Amino acid sequence: MSGNPDQTFAEVVQGRRSIRGYLDKPVPRELIEEVLALAMRSPSSMNTQPYYFHVITGEPLDRIRKGNTERILAGEPDSREFRRGQPFSGKHRERQIGCAVQLFEAMGIERDDKEKRQDWVLRGFRQFDAPVCIIITYDKELSDSDDTPFDCGAVTTALVNAAWSRGLGCVINSQGIMQSPVVREHAAIPDDQVIMKAVAMGWPDEDFPANPVKITRRKVDEAARFVGFD
Ligand SMILES: Cc1cc2nc3c(=O)[nH]c(=O)nc-3n(C[C@H](O)[C@H](O)[C@H](O)COP(=O)(O)O)c2cc1C
Repeated sequence: MSGNPDQTFAEVVQGRRSIRGYLDKPVPRELIEEVLALAMRSPSSMNTQPYYFHVITGEPLDRIRKGNTERILAGEPDSREFRRGQPFSGKHRERQIGCAVQLFEAMGIERDDKEKRQDWVLRGFRQFDAPVCIIITYDKELSDSDDTPFDCGAVTTALVNAAWSRGLGCVINSQGIMQSPVVREHAAIPDDQVIMKAVAMGWPDEDFPANPVKITRRKVDEAARFVGFD
């Protein structure tokens, strides 16, 4: 599936997919450090590098899974620490549904199967049972700048590609940080950092049906326009 260190950049980017099923096998700390060092070569606004990585495994991660699950089942409202915006509509909603349809089809989850859908959602709140979860945070003092989420996105994209190039799978996710107080407590996130996103990480389970799904993309000419080329 992945893990050949001789992969070209194009092979890594074309091959990478979000991984939502993992082997029960630990990830060595040195490998995560190597992946983070690669990711941190990303550009950032004025080289401010406003991000932090809280790399969590073992018992603290289990406490986060438990806390997230309990709060979700108790109907606790979303408590993200950043602006979420309006629910998606129009073309964005269409793409969101398209992605869910692809994943549910692979998992054999019918549209009206509430139980399986609930299981799927809870899986996300458990960080997909991955052995590692990396919480991405940023310096609160830079929270007024739109460059800050841009920089976090850049480094996180580099992180999932670097991980893939070393055989590791990831899924960037908001589910893991939707109950931010749980994460803040069990990962001891400092008060001067804002919790941005979670990345579940581990060795891909080749038998997990959603893992091979290649989520569709727009064509380049739907997203790009070229000016002054003719
Ligand atoms: C900011 C962000 C938030 C995301 N949140 C979730 C999430 O909460 N749960 C999930 O299963 N996937 C989540 N994803 C993964 C996207 O669904 C996925 O990247 C997209 O569908 C494209 O699929 P691919 O990564 O397999 O190419 C998120 C991705 C990003 C960049």
